[in-house]
Amino acid sequence: MIIGVPQEIKNNENRVALTPAGAAELVKRGHEVYIQTAAGTGSGFNDEDYLAAGAVLLPSIEEVYGIAEMIMKVKEPVDPEYQLIKKGQIIYTYFHFASSEKLTKAMIENGSICLAYETVELDDRSLPLLVPMSEVAGRMSVQEGAKYLEKTFGGYGVLLGGVPGVPPAKVLILGGGIVGTEAAKMAAGLGADVTIMDINLKRLRYLDDIMPANVKTMMSNDYNIREMVQTHDLIIGAVLIAGARAPRLLTRDMLKTIRPGTVLVDVAVDQGGCFETTTPTTHADPTFTIDDVIHYCVANMPGAVPRTSTIALTNSTLPYALQIAEKGWKNACSDSRPLLKGLNIVHGKVVYQGVAEAFHLPFEKAESQL
Ligand SMILES: NC(=O)c1ccc[n+]([C@@H]2O[C@H](COP(=O)([O-])OP(=O)(O)OC[C@H]3O[C@@H](n4cnc5c(N)ncnc54)[C@H](O)[C@@H]3O)[C@@H](O)[C@H]2O)c1
Repeated sequence: MIIGVPQEIKNNENRVALTPAGAAELVKRGHEVYIQTAAGTGSGFNDEDYLAAGAVLLPSIEEVYGIAEMIMKVKEPVDPEYQLIKKGQIIYTYFHFASSEKLTKAMIENGSICLAYETVELDDRSLPLLVPMSEVAGRMSVQEGAKYLEKTFGGYGVLLGGVPGVPPAKVLILGGGIVGTEAAKMAAGLGADVTIMDINLKRLRYLDDIMPANVKTMMSNDYNIREMVQTHDLIIGAVLIAGARAPRLLTRDMLKTIRPGTVLVDVAVDQGGCFETTTPTTHADPTFTIDDVIHYCVANMPGAVPRTSTIALTNSTLPYALQIAEKGWKNACSDSRPLLKGLNIVHGKVVYQGVAEAFHLPFEKAESQL
């Protein structure tokens, strides 16, 4: 198969959909790989690395879209890319269709095969191509929280791990899923006194078994949250209710009871946020302060560490890309239920129910297109 990897043109997006290692793997299996010049630079991969892996460099995005049977990307196509996509071309990337009618209509019109990372789903209902970004954001939440707890950034002025003779900082994590677990590991590793709250008792049992002694678990409810937020230095929001807006667990009135200089990191901001006072921020201006409490609410946290994020993402996306390249999208989707779930739009037809429902469009089962 002929595979094309354009440079991401969305503002501040430095990730790339294929590493030189991934390109080498595809080339080894007899595929042709075309990379847009400088596509990997933002993630620390230079053109020579791709050339050495057997890929061919193309100077313009038009040439990459023009030659490829499958385009591998990171973010959804943006306006200038819409008309570059050809009928029948496979576009394998994050789409998040339900949040953009314009994008959905554009992909219906151009007749492409849209395989969305975010809906590839394993039989246990987990989303393997979303997990790596949750892992990055979870680990990063503690790093960012620790930074903003420093006095120069407006924080309370505590060191997460404390020192001999001084107790460690207290970290509260709301939600013990992927983000919460990775945050807990990082905070615990730094020596903080960590509490994870969740509504899933089975999950809390599991976390209690595997976490070190400086991580405690607690049932999440309004009463407990209200009490805990008053005594913690760093509070991380990591809840998710699949397909729904995040519940507002930390309310405006609770904020008045929180000590000045406390840091709130709302990782769930991309689902509306689990703190009532959350509004999305960017890496350029990541924080704001209300009632002397610092809020960090960056919606694309992994964007700050593109090198790590690119490698983490492509570790997960490449195995599916190899299947598509090997068998063609139809056979790959027939053979793999997770990949079949990734099909969102095929030849102008919406084949993912959630997308059809979002914009009242006709829905056809993905199987009917194979
Ligand atoms: N800001 C970013 O850059 C970024 C990056 C990656 C993920 N995220 C977001 O982080 C959030 C968490 O993702 P995840 O992968 O960890 O999800 P997950 O499904 O693995 O975990 C969510 C957890 O929240 C728990 N939960 C639900 N309701 C709760 C409540 N009322 N109180 C306490 N816990 C509750 C669930 O039981 C589950 O354990 C999502 O909104 C995701 O979109 C944001």
